[in-house]
Amino acid sequence: MSQTKSAFGQAASLDTEHAVITRNICKNYGAVEALKDLSLEFPRGQLTSLLGPSGCGKTTLLKIIAGLLEPTSGEVEVNGRLINGPGPNRAFVFQDFALLPWASVMRNVAFGLELRGMPKSEREAIAENYISAVGLSGFENSYPHELSGGMRQRVGLARALSVDAKVLLMDEPFSAVDEQTRRKFQEDLLGLVQNENKTFIFVTHSIEEAVYVSDQIAILLPRPSRVSEIIRPRALHGKDVSNIRRDPEYLDIVDQIWASLRSYVE
Ligand SMILES: Nc1ncnc2c1ncn2[C@@H]1O[C@H](COP(=O)(O)OP(=O)(O)OP(=O)(O)O)[C@@H](O)[C@H]1O
Ligand SMILES: [Mg+2]
Repeated sequence: MSQTKSAFGQAASLDTEHAVITRNICKNYGAVEALKDLSLEFPRGQLTSLLGPSGCGKTTLLKIIAGLLEPTSGEVEVNGRLINGPGPNRAFVFQDFALLPWASVMRNVAFGLELRGMPKSEREAIAENYISAVGLSGFENSYPHELSGGMRQRVGLARALSVDAKVLLMDEPFSAVDEQTRRKFQEDLLGLVQNENKTFIFVTHSIEEAVYVSDQIAILLPRPSRVSEIIRPRALHGKDVSNIRRDPEYLDIVDQIWASLRSYVE
């Protein structure tokens, strides 16, 4: 990777293979060392999962990449530019949905575009497209308290998709749904990765989910958090996804990850 200076004097790389790069990220919360020297590369147009036990720093890393949280030291590069805060090239799907309780589904989904000053008819046309893509047609005028947890997660996903950021940061986006809905979401996510030309960074607790949806899995170990292993289940992707959960290669990867993680699960 070669380095140049951008017009703003920030180091800009000519790395076109990776949409996001984190270098030597450290994050301390007081005496708690949440992340230590975390360096990772996220291939453009692919889905990378962050997998690891509770409290290992997954949300912290995602918020640092989003620019919502400042690292104690280290840097994040997005599309060749160092970040110093949130930006329109990144959208976040929060662990707890973060919907506006007083706004309808339509207004929630279109909110990012409203903040950018896009005219109402234009932003509602885009929002409608993604409301339909996540299966919520007919609920445009409902309010968050009238929806199930899974439906709220779909609203958060539609909102993140509608701002057309090239990098999607998803913090356990399927954690509040039942098993069947979760499987449907996972299938839909694979479709999005194939069709949307975005880079996905996806946090999950589920080994099976990570192996099913990912091009690359970074396994994080806690205290302080570090990357213990990178696994690339991409070889599975050419295969028929409807049979993937019975595929010997899939099962091998799931076992291998469980072997790495089991000693960290109390
Ligand atoms: N605002 C904060 N103040 C103090 N400590 C924090 C704060 N946020 C996170 N931590 C600590 O940093 C560590 C990493 O937290 P983080 O939320 O990033 O973990 P996580 O991997 O996302 O966990 P989970 O899987 O439970 O969501 C934990 O030890 C947590 O207690
Ligand atoms: Mg978390």
